[in-house]
Amino acid sequence: RNAERDPASGIVTVAGIPVTELAAQYGTPLFVIDEDDFRSRCRDMAAAFGAPDRVHYASKAFLSSHIARWVAEEGLSLDVASGGELAVALHGGFPPERIALHGNNKSEAELEAAVRHGVGHVVIDSMIEIDRLDSVADRHGAVQDVLIRVTVGVEAHTHEFIATAHEDQKFGFSLADGSAMEAIRRVLATDHLRLVGLHSHIGSQIFEADGFELAAHRVISLLRDATAELGAARTAQLGTVDLGGGFGIAYVPSDDPPPIAELAAKLLAIVESESKQAGISAPRLTVEPGRAIAGPGTITVYEVGTVKDVRLGSAARRKYVSVDGGMSDNIRTSLYDAEYDVRVVSRRSDAEPMVSRIVGKHCETGDIVIRNAWMPADIASGDLLAVAATGAYCYSMSSRYNMLGRPAVVAVRDGQSRLLLRRETVEDLLSLEVE
Ligand code: LLP
Repeated sequence: RNAERDPASGIVTVAGIPVTELAAQYGTPLFVIDEDDFRSRCRDMAAAFGAPDRVHYASKAFLSSHIARWVAEEGLSLDVASGGELAVALHGGFPPERIALHGNNKSEAELEAAVRHGVGHVVIDSMIEIDRLDSVADRHGAVQDVLIRVTVGVEAHTHEFIATAHEDQKFGFSLADGSAMEAIRRVLATDHLRLVGLHSHIGSQIFEADGFELAAHRVISLLRDATAELGAARTAQLGTVDLGGGFGIAYVPSDDPPPIAELAAKLLAIVESESKQAGISAPRLTVEPGRAIAGPGTITVYEVGTVKDVRLGSAARRKYVSVDGGMSDNIRTSLYDAEYDVRVVSRRSDAEPMVSRIVGKHCETGDIVIRNAWMPADIASGDLLAVAATGAYCYSMSSRYNMLGRPAVVAVRDGQSRLLLRRETVEDLLSLEVE
């Protein structure tokens, strides 16, 4: 939102700071987060769903202790999916009672930590976990609030690897075979767990409301069935329906996701109307967006190293533009065929655009950042490129492949920059070696 190009020099500034300056100060590759953008998306999401704490920022998209602090300051809740995410959130001072713990295979230690720190709720994902968490809570003399994750059998229109609510996958309790109802019975029969609602997450990078609506319908039908079987006195405490995250964002100009306010209004309305139809009081709708908050406002800045013209056939050629990062800082292109937008941000070029492929520096042909990009024909070593909308699932899925240290992450706001995570060094790489 806060990126601008100076028409004369062609240099792009973010929140008032030239990208060239950031690259000189912090090096490349560099993640640059526009703090105002991140915070305003938190606020927009809170406004759309009616209250900030109804929105759990899914920290798997990107987390550091500074991010945890921003999210806390904006009043949102937080979703963590491991003991590591929990530790970073707590390190950032995030209030534990606004944290939810997820995961299909939480370890005993992770459950312990959640109960010990007093997280708001744990999202139960398996029968084994019901017993495990009940005993952990027992040991701590606690009663732990929980949601049950339901597999609603919705085919989300997204990449196979990030769709999560069809039957044949690892998450949650199936509605179809009755195990979701069985889980409700079992949790209600424990002494140290308090069932406060149901949860569904259908997938990620979704543009249509219909999958969420169908999920809401099915979850509320389950709530109705549970009330019919167990009685309203026992199910009254199931006051929350969480529809997970998955709201899609624009990566390239042709992507056209619905505005969050519109989607939220639809979801709030459907929960209301479905509950009325089911004859139960409407649960409080909560959500867990990650990408839609963290994704859009971050760019990755790379420096171009080598450029090659490769002949494709009789006449066609493709430019291979190599940058100083790649699949270690953005695995999404090779993993999901993700698309990104890229621009030269360090100068103006009036050269003809030419089909180019932006590739990384890893020893792998599939190390592609952008499969097809129109780049100026005079693109050259030393040019800075910015890839847009890299705030979600890039740094958080980064690796040290080929022993490249992870890039630095810097936040910009009102003409000021601040380092959130420093660049990994060779010393960091060597620090795990046991002599
Ligand atoms: N809640 C649950 C239970 C989830 O599993 C996820 C994402 C979210 C919320 C947040 O979804 P979001 O709003 O960010 O779409 N690595 C993939 C995305 C995997 C998402 C996993 N779960 C990617 O890079 O596209």
